[in-house]
Amino acid sequence: MRDDVTLNGHERWTRSDAIARKPAHSAEARNGLPPGPRGLPFLGVALQLRRDTLGLLAHLAQQYGDIVHIPLMLQSRILINHPDLIEDLLVRMPHKFDKGPGIKGAAKRLLGEGLLTSEGDLWRRQRRLAQPAFHRQRMAEYGRTMVAQAEEHIRAWRAGEVRNMAEEMMALTLVIAVKTLFGTEFTHEASHVGDAVTLLMRYQLKRLRAPIKLSMKWPFPWNRRADRAYAYLDSLVYGIIEERRRRREAGEAPSDDVLSLLMNAMDEDGSRMTSKQLRDEVMTLFIAGHETTAVTLGWAWHLLAQNPGVEERLRKELRLALGGRAPSPDDLPRLIYLDAVIREVLRLYPAAYVIQRTSTERVEFGGYSFPKNTTVLISQWIMHRHPRYFDDPEKFRPERWLDGLADRLPPYAYFPFGGGPRRCIGQGFALMEAALVMATLAQRFRFVEPAGRQIAPEPLITLRAHRGIPMTLRAI
Ligand code: HEM
Repeated sequence: MRDDVTLNGHERWTRSDAIARKPAHSAEARNGLPPGPRGLPFLGVALQLRRDTLGLLAHLAQQYGDIVHIPLMLQSRILINHPDLIEDLLVRMPHKFDKGPGIKGAAKRLLGEGLLTSEGDLWRRQRRLAQPAFHRQRMAEYGRTMVAQAEEHIRAWRAGEVRNMAEEMMALTLVIAVKTLFGTEFTHEASHVGDAVTLLMRYQLKRLRAPIKLSMKWPFPWNRRADRAYAYLDSLVYGIIEERRRRREAGEAPSDDVLSLLMNAMDEDGSRMTSKQLRDEVMTLFIAGHETTAVTLGWAWHLLAQNPGVEERLRKELRLALGGRAPSPDDLPRLIYLDAVIREVLRLYPAAYVIQRTSTERVEFGGYSFPKNTTVLISQWIMHRHPRYFDDPEKFRPERWLDGLADRLPPYAYFPFGGGPRRCIGQGFALMEAALVMATLAQRFRFVEPAGRQIAPEPLITLRAHRGIPMTLRAI
């Protein structure tokens, strides 16, 4: 067992086979289940999960160890908190799991059969067709768009103003997503799109957590509001696809955005995506691609404001490397501290804070045997703050990444972009976007938080800041 390994020394992690468990005399152990709380009859821990998701997950990991049984509404969830088990699940046996009925049911209406939600051959084909959109040479083009849009976004900003940086980052990444995906600008739509997405996220999360699933078709006001938001986003995306088809048929040269690439992508058998597949893929990239990066950037400004020493060091690096000029993707390899800051933001506030899988057959891991339809939870929130892997885990300290920590950690102690075949396709895009936006904005402004205001995470589908991140702009 290597649990006692000192990762902040210079030892390399080796895979262990021993997993920390509660003693065998517990009731769960007698039932062949991992240890875990009893919870209330019928409800299990549903109320606590609803009240304080992150607190409950952290408590369970601390109390019960690396593998935990969670009773929930007469069902079970298995929470795993050990890098080896996480690797087993995501990398060694992904074929024995899928994303499960909960996630797929909730996301289906918005994302259809896009990359995030599809499975099997359909997913493999779509991933193959979408991959070229994320090749290195295309990324440089996206990089130029990112910087141009960041500059445009702050053009009207003035020192002394108070801005909600969570909303600002959402609007900025939305325009970047629209521009890189569709090549068009519809800045005037950005706030409507943002509102529709937020409404749908809250709606779906409420449904996921509700003790009883009521039909989405019943004419309740919340179902009606969600219907309107779905219809709005659908008409927007279908409208853009149809306009693009018309332009193609009129003989216009294809643009070099992601949509054109997907429309022209052909599989080995010569087939192309249908309008519905295109809609699902574009909606998936659009939703998965802007919200997560926006949330990360919002947390970055918050953490920098809270840690003036880090902010100063970052600004110095930018001054020396760029001297006030706009950054480009070519500058990024030299901006080492900026990279460490972003890694550290993603450690403390991972936009995707939990990954869920459901077994499609009987599976064995962690010394237990689980039946088909067992749902397993993996949480970046827990692993990234695990004291076994991170010194002073609650502290924002980008320096920890500067001495090779990433190489010493076990592969699945830090995994903001997931892992295995379903690893995030947009990782490079997101990291580049976060770095270019930060390098652009941090050379123009400092962002100061009002004294005494607490910023708390709100675990929706992504890890948002509850009630936003208001900040005062100060000129550099
Ligand atoms: C900081 C930003 C981001 C974070 C933290 C993040 C995180 C993740 C994670 C953890 C997964 C795996 C989910 C699972 O295994 O169930 C994932 C998948 C995915 N992400 Fe991201 N993501 C980010 C940005 C992006 C961007 C910018 C795009 C697109 C432009 C994107 C598109 C996707 C897609 C399509 C998938 C599904 C991949 C597949 O299953 O083949 N993400 N992301």
